[in-house]
Amino acid sequence: MIRALNAKDAERMAEIHAGCFFKGWDEADMWAHIHKDLCFGFGRPLDGFIIIKSAADQAEILTVATDPSERRRGIARALLEISETELAENGVDTLFLEVAEDNKAAISFYNGMGFEPIGRRLGYYKREMGRVAAITYRKRLAANDRLG
Ligand SMILES: CC(C)(COP(=O)(O)OP(=O)(O)OC[C@H]1O[C@@H](n2cnc3c(N)ncnc32)[C@H](O)[C@@H]1OP(=O)(O)O)[C@@H](O)C(=O)NCCC(=O)NCCS
Repeated sequence: MIRALNAKDAERMAEIHAGCFFKGWDEADMWAHIHKDLCFGFGRPLDGFIIIKSAADQAEILTVATDPSERRRGIARALLEISETELAENGVDTLFLEVAEDNKAAISFYNGMGFEPIGRRLGYYKREMGRVAAITYRKRLAANDRLG
């Protein structure tokens, strides 16, 4: 079940994020995102969520994360699909994101969801053993395609 997130979800969002990333975002970070960005989640208790920041006709995926025990069940795909619909309905025509070059699961996910790589930022992410590049991806949303 997909739903818009609220302040009560911040703690669980931070828990999932910490299990997914080297440097997770804490509950206060999540609370701030809930109040200013598009935040959808899956399940109650939460199994996964997405955060997207938008401005005018562009938006950026800030994070998408699925609890490790719930992966490959279509949660991230469902979250992204509903977000794209919501964004397009609100006049967003282009969606961007950055992903670490060594994040094979996410790269496969974004490729499969129709994103195209458009750039590379050297040494963008910190790792215990050095730094890795970020790849920037872009997707034109359906409403924009209809306009040609
Ligand atoms: C990337 C991530 C969000 C995918 O979440 P998920 O809920 O497991 O993804 P879905 O089940 O919706 O997968 C959709 C498709 O993405 C691709 N995919 C997802 N995980 C994959 C993996 N580990 N290896 C290869 N392809 C993968 C597949 O094509 C999959 O479709 P399929 O299962 O029918 O083959 C999840 O692995 C995650 O939370 N990773 C840690 C956080 C992260 O890196 N987020 C993205 C960077 S911001």
